[in-house]
Amino acid sequence: MCGIFAYLNYLTPKSRQEVLDLLVTGLKRLEYRGYDSTGVAIDSPDNKNIVMVKRTGKVKVLEDAIQELFSGSEYSDPVMTHVGIAHTRWATHGVPCERNSHPHRSDDTNAFVVVHNGIITNYNDVKTFLAKRGYEFESDTDTEVFAKLVHHLWKKHPNYSFRELVEQAILQVEGAFAIAVKSKYFPGECVASRRSSPLLVGIKTKTRLATDHIPILYGKVLPRSESTSEFMPLEEKEVEYFFASDASAVIEHTNRVIYLEDDDVAAVRDGTLSIHRLKKSLDDPHAREITTLKMEIQQIMKGNYDYFMQKEIFEQPDSVVNTMRGRVRFDGNAIVLGGIKDYIPEIKRCRRLMLIGCGTSYHSAVATRQLLEELTELPVMVELASDFLDRNTPIFRDDVCFFISQSGETADTLMALRYCKQRGALIVGITNTVGSSICRESHCGVHINAGPEIGVASTKAYTSQFISLVMFALVMSEDRLSLQTRRLEILQALSKLADQIREVLKLDSKVQELAKDLYQHKSLLIMGRGYNFATCLEGALKVKELTYMHSEGIMAGELKHGPLALVDDSMPVLMIVLRDPVYVKCMNALQQVTSRKGCPVIICEEGDEETKAFSSRHLEIPRTVDCLQGILTVIPMQLLSYHIAVLRGCDVDCPRNLAKSVTVE
Ligand code: G6P
Repeated sequence: MCGIFAYLNYLTPKSRQEVLDLLVTGLKRLEYRGYDSTGVAIDSPDNKNIVMVKRTGKVKVLEDAIQELFSGSEYSDPVMTHVGIAHTRWATHGVPCERNSHPHRSDDTNAFVVVHNGIITNYNDVKTFLAKRGYEFESDTDTEVFAKLVHHLWKKHPNYSFRELVEQAILQVEGAFAIAVKSKYFPGECVASRRSSPLLVGIKTKTRLATDHIPILYGKVLPRSESTSEFMPLEEKEVEYFFASDASAVIEHTNRVIYLEDDDVAAVRDGTLSIHRLKKSLDDPHAREITTLKMEIQQIMKGNYDYFMQKEIFEQPDSVVNTMRGRVRFDGNAIVLGGIKDYIPEIKRCRRLMLIGCGTSYHSAVATRQLLEELTELPVMVELASDFLDRNTPIFRDDVCFFISQSGETADTLMALRYCKQRGALIVGITNTVGSSICRESHCGVHINAGPEIGVASTKAYTSQFISLVMFALVMSEDRLSLQTRRLEILQALSKLADQIREVLKLDSKVQELAKDLYQHKSLLIMGRGYNFATCLEGALKVKELTYMHSEGIMAGELKHGPLALVDDSMPVLMIVLRDPVYVKCMNALQQVTSRKGCPVIICEEGDEETKAFSSRHLEIPRTVDCLQGILTVIPMQLLSYHIAVLRGCDVDCPRNLAKSVTVE
């Protein structure tokens, strides 16, 4: 949902070409957030103006344009101090085109330029206000009002510092934003802020940082002269700062970052970073911690794989182990979830569990609901965040609400979290992104530890979310004598899971052959029930988002109530038929399909000759406990959608019209 990246080098010589390289690489790392248009702004060679380049399309198009436009020697001379800002867009207001691409500017002299992620909801009011004062708008975006508003404030308050101007502007806008601002009137300075959209600051110095926190400064807007002393030096002379929507864009430069909080204003002047807030509330901390990222650079590189998605599918034997690492003790059959253990007594007393998420994260809730009901003996509601909010669903103080999100930033999920928190429910976050908004706003939670997921279509995060919820169910039932046999059976199955996933991944070439049969079709129906219904939904979502083919996940029990009408000898159907309590019912559905001349692809258990006899095309997966089957059955679906997408020539990692992190409602 748009990626923003800004780079400031202070007393660290860098040519403009090097700065542009850094900006482009930063954007490439953030491309998963949006990829319909891009842009950068840097200082002109005479240092008096700001030059911008914008292009429609992916970062590569911008990169090529930059190579063409900035090859002159004036761009290879080193500059001691410089600020560059960059953006990759996922269009919300206005079609993708150069005119609507960021950075947006205050006026035709490019006095103030802004990159923005989010939506300024009152932009029409601000626009009317500015239009009356003579501002002419050149784009259809909400962002442009911000650049012009800062300019207007600068004219009104010539003594304000850059930070104060941005603070004043922020006070006037509503909605969600992460912004970075650059100005020709404040060379070498950058101001960034966030509200509901993610933003962090990476800090790189030659020596170890002299501090592990940046004090927060509170107070009203002050004239420039008075506010100077507020800047707290980092005591470093040569320093580089990186402002980015996410850590993957800074990890190759530094592992020292500060995650900004809502309404923080971070400003760099004279190489010094300050974090400012206009209002102080009682529980506000005095400083923002500088945290050390645990991420490794290899985790955000493709390695030997063609696509991130492919790499992430094949990482699952390891990522599921990482989710369980330090939590599941197979020798003592014990599970500890450190992030929620203190809350377990409270959770056990609750009225009901609510699992809330969007897209794939929602499917992980569908996948584990039955087990949660069985092992917690509590009512479990599974909700799509957007629908949950639309319904103003009643929430009570004794509800426990789980918010499941890979990114931890999905706006619908975050809004639902705030809705439940206001009503006094206990908030549990299940996320993959340490430091994300959902992590920070939850009372407690589980980090799924799947490692960075870059492909827009979620794969390894799904299986790790699934396992996190299974672990939670096991924790909830640890003192229930009647459930011990069942718990042991699941624990044993968890211990074998990584090897079984490796077995399933060996089906890759068989799945590729199957994809060759299917890729020219218009539609694919995926049927199953019980523990595998979630795989049908998730498989169909993968097919839709990656291949642009129609696909539907069908609850096999519903087949006779409508979808059977779609079945004939030409409709591609895939059915999941495993040896579990709903096997007989699944076989009924299989027979209903074959007797309508359907020729389904069957996902079944290894060596299940009876089931295989119903079709010439099957994928055999190892046997596991019923409640974990969904992990093994979803992997062929991930592989199938991946191979169909490759055969159809689709952009696997960046499907059209989508973004990985949807930070707008
Ligand atoms: C977007 C992505 C999906 C993802 C969903 C929820 O729609 O394209 O792949 O499942 O958001 O994202 P989250 O980060 O909250 O899991």
